[in-house]
Amino acid sequence: MGQTVTEQILADHLVDGELEPGEEIGIEIDQVLTQDTTGTMVWLQFEALGLEEVQTELAAQYCDHQTYQFDFKNTDDHRFLRSASGKYGAYYSRPGNGICHQVHKENFAAPGKTLLGSDSHTPTPGGLGQLAIGAGGLDISVAMGGGPYYVEMPEIVNIRLEGELPEWATAKDVILHLLDELSVKGGVGKVLEYTGPGVESLTVPERTTITNMGTELGATSSIFPTDEETRDWLSRIGREEEYVELTPDEDAEYHDEVVVNLSALEPLIAAPSMPDNVIPVREAAGTEVDQVIVGSCTNGAYEDILPAAKMLKGREVAKQTEMIVAPGSKQASEMLSREGWTAEMMAAGVNFSEATCGACIGIGHVPASDSVSLRTFNRNFEGRSGIEDDAVYLCSPEVAAAAAITGEIVDPRDLAEELGDLEAPGFEIGDGYSPGMGQDDPDIIAPDEAIDDELIKGPNIGDVPLREELESALAGEALLKMGDNITTDHIIPATSDILMYRSNIPKLSEYTLSRVDETFADRALEADGGFLVAGENYGQGSSREHAALCPMYLGVQGVFARSFARIHKANLFNFGLVPLTIDEETYDRIEQGDHLEIVDNVGEGVRSGQETFTVRVNDDWEFTAQLDASGREREILAAGGKLSWTKQHHESG
Ligand code: F3S
Repeated sequence: MGQTVTEQILADHLVDGELEPGEEIGIEIDQVLTQDTTGTMVWLQFEALGLEEVQTELAAQYCDHQTYQFDFKNTDDHRFLRSASGKYGAYYSRPGNGICHQVHKENFAAPGKTLLGSDSHTPTPGGLGQLAIGAGGLDISVAMGGGPYYVEMPEIVNIRLEGELPEWATAKDVILHLLDELSVKGGVGKVLEYTGPGVESLTVPERTTITNMGTELGATSSIFPTDEETRDWLSRIGREEEYVELTPDEDAEYHDEVVVNLSALEPLIAAPSMPDNVIPVREAAGTEVDQVIVGSCTNGAYEDILPAAKMLKGREVAKQTEMIVAPGSKQASEMLSREGWTAEMMAAGVNFSEATCGACIGIGHVPASDSVSLRTFNRNFEGRSGIEDDAVYLCSPEVAAAAAITGEIVDPRDLAEELGDLEAPGFEIGDGYSPGMGQDDPDIIAPDEAIDDELIKGPNIGDVPLREELESALAGEALLKMGDNITTDHIIPATSDILMYRSNIPKLSEYTLSRVDETFADRALEADGGFLVAGENYGQGSSREHAALCPMYLGVQGVFARSFARIHKANLFNFGLVPLTIDEETYDRIEQGDHLEIVDNVGEGVRSGQETFTVRVNDDWEFTAQLDASGREREILAAGGKLSWTKQHHESG
């Protein structure tokens, strides 16, 4: 049987398992990327593994999420990341140089290679045929050390593109259309592979806008085949020799197919506060707009900002509206400047932010209360902009520019008709396009240019807490009893006021489960161990490893839950916390403060494949808890977590 593009790349990199959906596979990783808020822990874990040098073909450290350095702790983090990159052999991209996905795309992304990144939008370079997956920080450290990455073999869905986008419809509308069709859960456990005659009509930056937002569909990854368009784009940025032809075999089989007729698409918008709350722009027309932002890792490329610049040339931003351009990379910004577009936009009343995630996570440009913000970003979850009662719409740069001109949401087709002289900007690029963009970024320090050869740890850089081998006897208090659907945000908030403590686990741990019970961290430390009890779907949300790491630091030994979210359960194994499933009757009966004692020899049971464990409550009654784990997960748990397990493997291998 023929293979899809995804299967071809996986087969090339397979070191363990078989390419059967649902099976655990191990793949070799060629490139890794990490950003500042996840990177500190990645490098601390790399150090704790005792490794001396990056083993992947390439590793890149970006400083993009918190670049404003309004506190020495941010700057200390950046200094530490620079020193770790220098010491271990990674590329280091300075704060302000741009958002990891854009800068990686410009400088390093390559067709046919695998990329693992500690950021959920890592699949962005799928638009040029790279198989890219987001993962937790410890998985990144292990991959950088040369270890395989383990993932459940996803189903591969054919997203067949037909026709061509009409004027004013854009790549953003393709992905918004898919979100409307499939919902934010539509891609879970899947790789979305784009095929069909419509592919060739899309440029590489358009394709990467689509693959970037595959994350909003919940997909493991998204990927396009490569073609002349890919080769052209690589050659334009000076990396043509990295071109590899990738097309699915004629008899490749997909698990499912979704057909998108590009010709039938129109300008769309995601209304507050979910990326799949999609409506035609015309349905929201007339809504007054207070703020417009063009940029982010989704639409922050030179090719994304250019259409907005063309529309604004010779016009003015409406007086009641503020418009900000937040470029995805400094090189995009530089090219716009060279061609005079920055001056045109400034003359129209646009302000420029540095190339940073910033506004996307509520750091800067927080909207006013009771106001409307229109953004070309990928997420509009309630409160993400930095204010709880926000109203954030997601759209294309063209729709954003039209709103900036009129001060209200308007379909650009209607605006063009009204103005008479507004042409669809199309996708032609200017002469100033830097021919060496992908080769010569002055803000990237290559491993052979490294400034530091020792780690620089300011007072905010802590150590990685390690757990001992799993003990034979586990007992302790039910420290906290929670309900259903506890998210990783409940466990460790991601608010900007504590983001800088991601490298300081003792400090960050003080906030553990504080949204559920403010006294939790103190009580857990005092009790010196114990358990969490939760309802269904414990740990849903992001892949944040701190949601397991901080409870581990506080001495939590395990979690009894009705059920677990998949990634969080993997993180519990990774940090040596025992995830045990209980039935409804048991959940109802356990009270917070109960004394729980696992009667069986836990360490031995986990190692030997034991599936049920008996737990005694207050020396009064007993229940049975279930451990569902693969052989590899049991080994990791028994070793006290993935860090210790990997270390043992390295030492013995
Ligand atoms: Fe940054 Fe927002 Fe993208 S936080 S990586 S711009 S989703």
